[in-house]
Amino acid sequence: MTPEPPGAASRDLLCVRGLHTQFLSDRGLVHAVNGVSFSVRRGETLALVGESGCGKTATMLSVLRLLPPHRARVEADEVSFKGQNLLGLDDEEMRRVRGPEIGMIFQDPRASLNPVLTIGRQLTESLEVHLRLGRRAARDRAIELLESVGIPRPASRFDDYPHQFSGGMCQRVMIAIALACEPSLLIADEPTTALDATIQAQILNLVAELRATREMAMI
Ligand SMILES: Nc1ncnc2c1ncn2[C@@H]1O[C@H](COP(=O)(O)OP(=O)(O)OP(=O)(O)O)[C@@H](O)[C@H]1O
Ligand SMILES: [Mg+2]
Repeated sequence: MTPEPPGAASRDLLCVRGLHTQFLSDRGLVHAVNGVSFSVRRGETLALVGESGCGKTATMLSVLRLLPPHRARVEADEVSFKGQNLLGLDDEEMRRVRGPEIGMIFQDPRASLNPVLTIGRQLTESLEVHLRLGRRAARDRAIELLESVGIPRPASRFDDYPHQFSGGMCQRVMIAIALACEPSLLIADEPTTALDATIQAQILNLVAELRATREMAMI
């Protein structure tokens, strides 16, 4: 048996212990998540598996603090990311974690894109702010990213708005945006279910490459 390398404990990227989530609905309290615990290390992939309605999405939304406080009650013994207690952060601090640190891909792509910004701008904005790229470099990288998620002729589609893209294309743009910041953790909730097999394979390749080169972890 190989001994644990020094500092192995700090290799935990995300640690969740005893997570409980309840929804306050018209039908009363819904216990969606009951005492879930898991942790993910750098470069590791974790799969959450379970029947429909068992609480997978609710678990991830709770961790990301994306559930409206007046509709959901989230309690946990621990939710920490890089040793930082996420439950103790204010909204502004949490916004600096979501995106640049923890990338997210959810199923509804149109809801996540800004309808009044071009596809290109939505990508370059992240690249300029989070990776501190200049205009030109951000544009080049954005086109590369669009290409890697299977958008044909990305340079000519750069100035299109989301309504000019199909649902599947919007989904791929969302994936490109999530990967643009090179987050250390990617949370993907059935991101490729709606896409065809070729594009699915292409996106999984891109994710595998980021895992290998950037030690990106994935749930
Ligand atoms: N906003 C909400 N208000 C009330 N109940 C909710 C809400 N969102 C989810 N639930 C309930 O919480 C439970 C867990 O739902 P969740 O969406 O996490 O399931 P899931 O495992 O992601 O399912 P699927 O595989 O179908 O995506 C379900 O019983 C669901 O009905
Ligand atoms: Mg779900």
